[in-house]
Amino acid sequence: MGVTICCIGAGYVGGPTMAMIALKCPDIVVNVVDISKPRIAAWNSDELPIYEPGLDEVVKACRGKNLFFSTDVERLVAEADIVFVSVNTPTKTRGLGAGKAADLTYWESAARMIADVSTSDKIVVEKSTVPVKTAEAIEKILTHNKKGINFEILSNPEFLAEGTAMEDLDKPDRVLIGGRETPGGQKAIAALKAVYAHWVPEENILTTNLWSAELSKLAANAFLAQRISSINAMSALCEATGADVKEVAYAVGKDSRIGPKFLNASVGFGGSCFQKDILNLVYICECNGLPEVAHYWKQVVQINDYQKDRFVRRVVSSMFNTVSGKKIAILGFAFKKDTGDTRETPAIDVCRGLLEDKALLSVYDAQVTEEQIKRDLSMNKFDWDHPQHLQPTNPTTLLNQLTVVKDAYEATKGAHGLCVITEWDEFKTLDFQKIYDNMQKPAFIFDGRNVLNIEELRKIGFVVYSIGKPLDPWVKDLPAAAH
Ligand code: NAD
Ligand code: UDX
Repeated sequence: MGVTICCIGAGYVGGPTMAMIALKCPDIVVNVVDISKPRIAAWNSDELPIYEPGLDEVVKACRGKNLFFSTDVERLVAEADIVFVSVNTPTKTRGLGAGKAADLTYWESAARMIADVSTSDKIVVEKSTVPVKTAEAIEKILTHNKKGINFEILSNPEFLAEGTAMEDLDKPDRVLIGGRETPGGQKAIAALKAVYAHWVPEENILTTNLWSAELSKLAANAFLAQRISSINAMSALCEATGADVKEVAYAVGKDSRIGPKFLNASVGFGGSCFQKDILNLVYICECNGLPEVAHYWKQVVQINDYQKDRFVRRVVSSMFNTVSGKKIAILGFAFKKDTGDTRETPAIDVCRGLLEDKALLSVYDAQVTEEQIKRDLSMNKFDWDHPQHLQPTNPTTLLNQLTVVKDAYEATKGAHGLCVITEWDEFKTLDFQKIYDNMQKPAFIFDGRNVLNIEELRKIGFVVYSIGKPLDPWVKDLPAAAH
């Protein structure tokens, strides 16, 4: 057997990433550890804790051979040569930098534990997304515990996207490894490179200094989110002028300097990374005396909030300025298709907005549980920088207006309106004639993902709103201040 790896944090990143390493490197023992007992129990069961296409097969092929999930954190860290740290780094909700800065509590406690339990030299790999310069602080924590043990710290940010994690891990555009420019740092880089070289072509493994690697991750997410906010900003102008955002995106993306990907207008981006990482970037810029740069990136998040708010206003205003007591079907709750993850999903803001206007919601998502939907909608939204999203009502009382159902037909039965919030493939092939026949008239569709065939729906008799598409005469808008 070759080296032994231990990954701290068995989440959306730790689980799939380590499963792929185990699959591609049969000579390496991979232990994935977590403080959450239920999460580890699920990783060891037939019902994995996360839904990710292709993941089950890989876990089943490797688990018990060279891939192990355990809560025996300290022992397995102590035994490892390479320790990946893939714990959560959410936005701080209290204290200095609240609402923007990354909360490194979990990271710091993992680093202290590594320092405490280690009895041999280790390479410690930052897998979590962290503020640039975090490695400096981590190094101090690790070396503080002077036992003559050598720790080399590397930054190896993860670029996988949920829903396509296994493909992304199998054929990454690049693997990025940052390390110290010392002989020890270079040796550590070579050791981690050797792991990835089992399946990633050498030219796709980039090596940089520590700070470039840490910052590149924040920069990549900021650039990706910026494209979505740019096309979403254009979608508002398309609706105002009669241009079609899909045609505009196609024409713009044909320019090889711009490229066609990531230009789908939507109800807004969600997920655990984009907003968190941009706010973190904004905070870092502010701390480095760069308010103009901070302001530039903050706009990406603000346009995203505007887009979600705009969608709710379209629904309410089109349905004769009131949704009070009206049933509205919400199709999709996850932040994108092919995942059950609801972190920062636009569905939360849209549902909250409609519930606040006294709508009766019937929600359907094939991968998100009723319990999760209710938890998301009853949590007090953390709203430092989003004053336009006023939350005057106690969220738990709004749950009386909510039902979670098992399929799209049940959700739409007797409804006045239908909103597509997640682009699940199954929504494209629904029997819309049947849905129309069972809805109140006029029957409204609000397609927040531009996945439905508008012409066919209009032929059936629906009033249709689709983001950034020429407007149906029935579709109205309210001025922002009126909402
Ligand atoms: P997650 O919340 O799904 O998983 C983190 C896990 O770490 C949890 O199971 C938690 O119990 C565990 N944990 C926390 N502290 C611990 C400790 N001291 N010891 C042992 N376990 C501990 O988070 P995630 O989505 O996997 O994200 C992890 C990191 O990767 C974050 O920094 C995130 O920004 C980054 N990232 C996420 C994605 C993504 O698509 N989710 C993509 C790239 C990077
Ligand atoms: C993102 C990055 O893509 C990934 O590289 C990083 O490691 C983690 O963050 P993820 O959040 O999992 O991945 O999914 P992604 O595909 O980027 O989608 C994020 C959000 O943007 C989703 O809500 C998605 O629906 C939305 N989106 C994406 C759009 O609205 N339009 C697009 O064109 C693309």
